[in-house]
Amino acid sequence: MRIGVLTSGGDCPGLNAVIRSVVHRAVVDHGDEVVGFRDGWRGLLEGDHRPLGLEDVAGILATGGTILGSSRVQPAQLRDGVERAKEHVAALGIDAVIPIGGEGTLKAARLLSDAGLPVVGVPKTIDNDITSTDVTFGFDTAVGVATDALDRLKTTAESHQRVLIVEVMGRHTGWIALNSGMAAGAHAIVVPERPFDIEELAEVVGKRFADGKRFAIVVVAEGAKPREGTMAFETGGTDVYGHERFAGVARQLAGELERRLGKEARPVILGHVQRGGTPSAYDRVLATRFGWHAVEAVHRKEFGMMTALRGNEITLVPLADAVAQLKTVPEDRYSEVECVL
Ligand code: F6P
Repeated sequence: MRIGVLTSGGDCPGLNAVIRSVVHRAVVDHGDEVVGFRDGWRGLLEGDHRPLGLEDVAGILATGGTILGSSRVQPAQLRDGVERAKEHVAALGIDAVIPIGGEGTLKAARLLSDAGLPVVGVPKTIDNDITSTDVTFGFDTAVGVATDALDRLKTTAESHQRVLIVEVMGRHTGWIALNSGMAAGAHAIVVPERPFDIEELAEVVGKRFADGKRFAIVVVAEGAKPREGTMAFETGGTDVYGHERFAGVARQLAGELERRLGKEARPVILGHVQRGGTPSAYDRVLATRFGWHAVEAVHRKEFGMMTALRGNEITLVPLADAVAQLKTVPEDRYSEVECVL
C-alpha cells in the first residue's frame, strides 16, 4: 500500500511520534510505502510531498514540532480544494491518507472522506477538546509545562506580594487551566465554559490577602470571557484565517484586580511554550499507539474513522461523531476543586 500522512493545524508535542509510528508499522510490518505531505493540507492540495522511510524518522520520537511542517490551510477554504486533493491522491497512487490534527483538520478529513477519499484521522491538540477520545496527545505535556511555570511563579509572586494572572492556552475549553491549576494549587481558576464574574474573582483574591496570605495565583484560559454586563472587556477581533484572536484576558484581569484590590497584579502569558519542545512519556506512548492503530485501520479499510483512546484501549470512532461538538470540561470536574469560578 502507499500511505500519505500529514500534520495540520497548530502543532503539538507528539506529532513526530505518530509519524514515526506510522512509518515503522507500515514499512517494517506491512511492507508499505509512506509519503509525507508538507505543511498539512497545503501539501496535499499542491501535491507537495516527500518519501518517508525508516531513516527519515530515526531519532524523532522525543522531538517537538513536526518534521512535515504544518499550516492552517483547509481544503474547504480553496476553490476546488476537495477536487484538487482527490486529483493528487489519485496521481500519486495513494491508497489512504492519515491526517493528524485537531478540530479543524478532522472536520476537513470528514469532508474529504464524504467526498470518497480513504481517510483515517488521528486526533491531536494540547487543548484536549476533541470529543470521542478520552485524551489527545500533547495535553499531558502542555499541562506539565504550565504546572512547572505555575510552581515557579509562586515564589516570585510571594517575594513581591503580588497577584499573578497566568494565561494558559484553551481557545474554547478549560482543560489545561483546570488541570495545571489543580496540579499547582492555584487560588482561582477561570475557564471559558463558565463566564466569570469579576466581583467574585476580586472577592476570592481579596479574601486571601485579608487572611494574611502574601500572594495569589490565578490561572485563566485564554478563551475565558466575563459574564455579560459584569466588566468592560475588549475583544481581540479575528486573524487572517477568521479565527478569534485572543483579547488578552490576563492583561485585562490584572488591570481590574489591581484597581479593585489595590494590590500589584501582573499578567503572565505562557503562550506557545506550552506547545513546543519534547513530549512527555505519556504523550509519546499515546501518539505511538495512535499511529500504530491508524495503519491497522488503513489495512482493514476502515475509512472515515479516527483513532481514539477509551479507557486504556485504542479504538476507532467515526470522524462524523468526533467533530460533532467540542469536549468541554464536565461540570463534576469543577466540584473537585473549590477555586474554579
Ligand atoms: O488549538 C491549539 C491551540 O494551541 C490553542 O490552544 C490556541 O488558541 C491556538 O492553538 C493558537 O494558535 P496559533 O498558533 O495559530 O496562534
